[in-house]
Amino acid sequence: MQHAYDMAHAAADWLRARIPAPSAAAVLGSGLGALADQLEDAVQIPYGEIPHFPAPKVSGHAGVLSVGRLPGRKTVVAALSGRVHLYEGHPIEEVVHAVRTMALWGVRDLVITNAAGGIDGAFAPGDLMLITDHLNLTGKNPLWGVNDDRLGQRFPDMSHAYSPTLRRIVQACARDLGQTLRSGVYAGVMGPSYETPAEIRMLGHVGAAAVGMSTVNEVIAARHAGLQVCGISCITNLAAGLSATELHHDEVKTTAELARERFLALVCEALERFAERPER
Ligand code: HPA
Repeated sequence: MQHAYDMAHAAADWLRARIPAPSAAAVLGSGLGALADQLEDAVQIPYGEIPHFPAPKVSGHAGVLSVGRLPGRKTVVAALSGRVHLYEGHPIEEVVHAVRTMALWGVRDLVITNAAGGIDGAFAPGDLMLITDHLNLTGKNPLWGVNDDRLGQRFPDMSHAYSPTLRRIVQACARDLGQTLRSGVYAGVMGPSYETPAEIRMLGHVGAAAVGMSTVNEVIAARHAGLQVCGISCITNLAAGLSATELHHDEVKTTAELARERFLALVCEALERFAERPER
């Protein structure tokens, strides 16, 4: 088997030969792919063409890398529409391959978005939540095994997994756009079954404000690779046991679609301001 570094390096070289790396990339979660369609003069590359990129299989996840200008602006960004999840059976190296590729390509900032179930009693479906920290409850870690120093150091610090600087910028964007922005801890679970009400009560007790089936391993790999990370969840449903209705993936996609305009406005403004800030 090829090493994770070699695979990400091959993908990054392949991209670099075609497009210079933008300073920021966004991973777009379930139903949140609209940003990719909005990019101007965009180059669109199906994952299947990029070395070692696995194709996502979940409906609502397209599997295309788009690189283009933010609508009405000059800043060029990359948008990864669709990701692969552990619950699809992908090995963890595949789950984080795109993130490592972004880092080796030369991207500085990574915006990771997802659909999540709301646990905090104040949250309503359609709310956007800035991720302040996470609980990795997937039972996996992408850094498991021999460390490759070319990817990052053995024991990366996770105290500031979600960059305080980027968080302040996103909060300022929300204020200026007149948007309510929730914030809280994201619990990442393996899935694919939704949680039981008992599990949601437990997650609430340990400080989780939202729960989802992605993000945490990508963030660990991103921090390992030296990327600055910003995480935004779209609360697509109340978590199990908190509403009278049963959970369904269609609800996740429909609610994400309802939040589309606010999500787009916030993410575009944030990406623009991230690009404008001075080098670290
Ligand atoms: N649980 C886990 N993942 C999710 C949920 C949820 O309630 N909603 C969207 N993704």
